[in-house]
Amino acid sequence: MSGMFDALEVRGVSFKNRIAVSPMSQYRAKDGLANDWHLVHLGRFALGGAGLVFAEATAVEEAGRRTHGDLGLWEDRQIEPLLPVTKFIAAEGAIPGIQLGHAGRKASERRPWHGETPVDELDIHERNEAPWTAMAPSSIPYADGWPAPIEMSETDIETTLLAFKSAARRSKEAGFKVIEIYAAHGFLVHQFLSSISNQRTDKWGGNAERRRRFAVEVARAVRSDWPEEYPLIFRLSATDWLEGGLEVEEVIETARVLAAEGVDMIDCSSGGIGGRERPRRMKIEQGFQVPFAARIRKEARIATMAVGFLWDATACQAVIENGHADMIAMARELLDDPNWPLHAAALLGEDTDYAMWHEEFGYWLDKRDRLTRKLGLR
Ligand SMILES: Cc1cc2nc3c(=O)[nH]c(=O)nc-3n(C[C@H](O)[C@H](O)[C@H](O)COP(=O)(O)O)c2cc1C
Repeated sequence: MSGMFDALEVRGVSFKNRIAVSPMSQYRAKDGLANDWHLVHLGRFALGGAGLVFAEATAVEEAGRRTHGDLGLWEDRQIEPLLPVTKFIAAEGAIPGIQLGHAGRKASERRPWHGETPVDELDIHERNEAPWTAMAPSSIPYADGWPAPIEMSETDIETTLLAFKSAARRSKEAGFKVIEIYAAHGFLVHQFLSSISNQRTDKWGGNAERRRRFAVEVARAVRSDWPEEYPLIFRLSATDWLEGGLEVEEVIETARVLAAEGVDMIDCSSGGIGGRERPRRMKIEQGFQVPFAARIRKEARIATMAVGFLWDATACQAVIENGHADMIAMARELLDDPNWPLHAAALLGEDTDYAMWHEEFGYWLDKRDRLTRKLGLR
């Protein structure tokens, strides 16, 4: 039985534990370029003990950005500013990963704190940020009040697949060792998978096999320019939570097909395909998406990552020990406490004397602990 603090080998990469920092968009990039913010933001998690640190959703095409602040890898000059980030993460004992994506019909959106609504003329005056036209499998808007995207032509699809391939090559050159494809939360790859957003009648739409073709081609394109010894992960929405949308049974089959294409793990999230309201079927509680990771792992026979509303160390340990997932990913809890993995290790008795900490911190914390105990202060 493996636990959260046991190492995990995937292809030629060894994670020191099963804790991943879930991709978290910062909306801090300019022209897709990383900067000191990304180094410090992601660096904190490497110091905090996570085994895998994912950089946020990174656009493979300029028009595939969700907001003006998204990271990008659509051109070579975007590689260099990422080098200090991957170098630092790797030097401090974590594996640097990147999430590659394309926003499709969710492109040209305002940052969350500016409303998560479509960018329009107002943004030009307020922030010098102009709207751009989004493209998608079908010309169906994301939600009420959103512009209709342009339906992608065969050439658009081929160009986008090549963009995923080039971004994989750039990810390698930037020092990343794991790629996750963003095929969840209503972004482009998910838009192809779900019939709510894909109403095409050509080979890219229709039955489940046709709707999954784009995801398969993305996996092939990325694998063709990504080292054999490096893991490839897909983040899927295990269900759309909506009538007429994706259900877990179909997603299990997608996971099976992707596994045959050299995908090593499925990061099991859910939802996001359309509209702003939370679907009625979606009941949020701690670890509510774990059952998807468990089913996909068991039925598609592929490694999984569990994510969403996880914060309790004992519950996370149980996810791994019970074989419901191979890794857990966390976002908001790690924003609150980047040292969560180290605190969890102490709580679970995996680290009793700060030995897992970097000695620049651990030495002092252990010394203080012994002293305060001796003096009866704590
Ligand atoms: C600030 C922030 C940014 C996020 N950006 C992304 C992203 O770039 N890609 C992605 O797949 N999910 C993104 N998410 C979703 C998280 O990765 C995660 O799946 C979700 O927050 C649920 O996990 P949690 O309950 O541990 O926060 C983001 C979440 C937050 C809080």
